[in-house]
Amino acid sequence: MATVAANPFSDGRTDEKRATGFTLVIFGVTGDLTRKKLVPALFSLCAHSFLDRFSIVGFARRAWTDDEFRSEARSMLSSPETGNPAEAEALNSFLARLGYLSSSFDDPKGYENLLAVLSAGAASGRKTILYYLSTPPESYQTIIERIGAIRGRLPPGVDERIVIEKPFGRGGESARALDLFIHRFFTEDRIYRIDHYLGKDTVQNILAFRFGNGLFEPIWNSRFIDRIEITVAETAGVGTRGGYYESAGALRDMIQNHLFQLLALTAMEPPNDLAAESIRAEKQKVFRAIQPFDRNRLSSDTVRAQYSAGTIDGVAVPGYREEKGVAPESPTETYVALKVMVNSWRWAGTPFYLRVGKRLPRRMSEIAVYFRKPPLGIFPGPGAAENVLVFRIQPDDGFSLSVNTKIPGFSAALRPALMDFSYGSGFADAPRDAYERLILDALLGDPSLYTSSGEVEACWDVIDPILASWEAGTPALRSYPAGSAGPEAARDLVAREGRRWRKL
Ligand code: BG6
Repeated sequence: MATVAANPFSDGRTDEKRATGFTLVIFGVTGDLTRKKLVPALFSLCAHSFLDRFSIVGFARRAWTDDEFRSEARSMLSSPETGNPAEAEALNSFLARLGYLSSSFDDPKGYENLLAVLSAGAASGRKTILYYLSTPPESYQTIIERIGAIRGRLPPGVDERIVIEKPFGRGGESARALDLFIHRFFTEDRIYRIDHYLGKDTVQNILAFRFGNGLFEPIWNSRFIDRIEITVAETAGVGTRGGYYESAGALRDMIQNHLFQLLALTAMEPPNDLAAESIRAEKQKVFRAIQPFDRNRLSSDTVRAQYSAGTIDGVAVPGYREEKGVAPESPTETYVALKVMVNSWRWAGTPFYLRVGKRLPRRMSEIAVYFRKPPLGIFPGPGAAENVLVFRIQPDDGFSLSVNTKIPGFSAALRPALMDFSYGSGFADAPRDAYERLILDALLGDPSLYTSSGEVEACWDVIDPILASWEAGTPALRSYPAGSAGPEAARDLVAREGRRWRKL
């Protein structure tokens, strides 16, 4: 197997990596994630020669044959340009590596068939086995137990890992129970808990920006930073995922994982090095420093809301309760705003405002860092505005910094000028999809961009009191029309402190 850089940031590009000799088993392969993310990512990795000597086994209930799976996979990929034989060849060679096992997740016979496929693969040199659980969380334990029952009969020398999709548990207690269960079968170093935000180049760039430049770190603290705003806004609604979303809601679906990871990368202390354990330990310290959401703060510092019918880009869209798979009286939140305080020496006194929502007016994920104004206003007019550093996670990946600048002419008045960097124009190569990076890393045994059990549990410990209070009805669920910037209560959460959210 090719050598792997020990950390995600050391090589700048992933091009030197190549995973060789593996079988990837995707449980729940007939689902949405395979169509939208896994198959396109795997094909792209294969077409760019990052994968070698491998096979992919789809495992799900539907009664597909190998050929049916291949033609489904074909429909998940864009067509090769007409007349481009190299592309057609890459596509055919990828599809030829796909196989399918039709079985329910609890049928031992299905796993006997899987054992035969994995054993034959190992005999032909495919010694790495990656189990990818892309199923509803209710099936995790059954699948893991059944895998556990066949593992002892795999040929010696195989190297197994398991990837688990979020949400990992429904709260601290169930996450701990799930961990205990999985640890009966897999050691921690074999467990890859995926948070696809960590696979995004723009997210990895937060650490590169902070610790790869001497300029910002000395002022990266509450003495110089007034507040930090983290936004993940989507125009999409729940689409076909109403069933799943009803049991998750935005707090479990996005805040506990993606937004908390963004917060941790922004707030963490410099790690000693870029090894997985060093980064994970520093992130976990941030989660442990978050001021608990006690009873007094739940009403003032948390907002939950649900979208009602409205208009997005001129098109009328239904309210959440009218979506497929959603209960007509559903209390599930599709929008969350929180004021998070990190009680560490570095951050005491600087609030982190988090907001996330579906059916907002535009798709935008960013982190805005507001620096304090100069202590003395000596310039005429409105004077110096706050300097704002914005990490644009997506779209238009990049970052910008606003700097007050003298307006040309006879006055000394200022106006903010924007220093802007875009990945699109700054580098020749487009960023790779997060799933490409993460799948490749799991195949190569590099967990740096996956989350540890300690991190997941620390996040739940923050979230649990919010969930309990919301379930008991405090604060009340608000409503916002699809296409609006969210509920008034979110505006009030920051307005109370003399602040305004960035425009969506
Ligand atoms: C997923 C959530 O983890 O992230 C979805 O389950 C959400 O509800 C998605 O839409 C957003 O991901 P991205 O990469 O499009 O910002």
